Amino acid sequence: MTEPLLEARGVVKRFGHVQALQGADFRAHAGEVVALVGDNGAGKSTLVNVLSGVVAPDAGEILLDGRLVRFSGPQDAQRLGVETVYQDLSLAQDLDAPTNLYLGRELLRGGLLGRLGVLDRTTMRREAVRAFAELGVTLKDPSAPVATLSGGQRQSVAVARAVAFAHRVIFLDEPTAALGVVQRARVLDTVRRVAERGIAVVLISHNMPEVLSVADRVEVLRLGRRVASLRAADTTIEELVGAMTGSLDREQAAAAVVGGEEDARGEEEAR
Ligand SMILES: Nc1ncnc2c1ncn2[C@@H]1O[C@H](COP(=O)(O)OP(=O)(O)O)[C@@H](O)[C@H]1O
Ligand SMILES: [Mg+2]
Repeated sequence: MTEPLLEARGVVKRFGHVQALQGADFRAHAGEVVALVGDNGAGKSTLVNVLSGVVAPDAGEILLDGRLVRFSGPQDAQRLGVETVYQDLSLAQDLDAPTNLYLGRELLRGGLLGRLGVLDRTTMRREAVRAFAELGVTLKDPSAPVATLSGGQRQSVAVARAVAFAHRVIFLDEPTAALGVVQRARVLDTVRRVAERGIAVVLISHNMPEVLSVADRVEVLRLGRRVASLRAADTTIEELVGAMTGSLDREQAAAAVVGGEEDARGEEEAR
């Protein structure tokens, strides 16, 4: 297997007395859709927050392209091509959808006007409408504040923003939760297309059929640790649920970690 594009090793994160992550490992490869699954409270969002620079880990390592990185904030991660659709979407509710898409990364006009900081609103609006259309969203009034859109439309705005700027990794924390059937299918299509551009797509979802249909691989978190890494094509909903709930026994769980020779060697040496 090729080297992971993004890797977490032994990540620990505490919130007061709560150990959200207790030595969590994670891997995503370029061009791969990885689903990150686990019961409520397993640590999925915390791991995404650590890997996208929002939360600083108490211990552990993050490697991007095989190099150790330390994010001092989400902008740091974004600069390196890591984009995230957060569970709470993180949109500016009083601004319109195109403005949200380009927030903090506005396009400037050409020439002198651009040098004077004049924004290219026409291009931003056109590109935004195109990006939303790709996700199956037609905005009746692109200048309406995001707060007036439906939950599904807001979710699509957040997905479109991440897709537009990601060039290495994109995290989607429950991106289809508020969506109807058609939009959900569009988002999953987009997920596959983004991965085909060579980007690692990390999808958090509670919908196991959705996970098995769109992901190449599934990493399972339980109580703040990775307990399984399974090829989607070789696994079943029962096996995933078993790993999530801990009813998979230790031997099965060890066999459920795919990840190439490196892991196997590590286990040999540990014996
Ligand atoms: N900011 C926070 N402050 C305190 N506890 C937190 C915070 N964020 C997460 N936790 C706790 O950490 C654990 C893991 O949460 P989370 O990462 O949100 O899990 P998941 O996304 O898998 O449901 C939970 O027990 C949660 O209550
Ligand atoms: Mg969560």
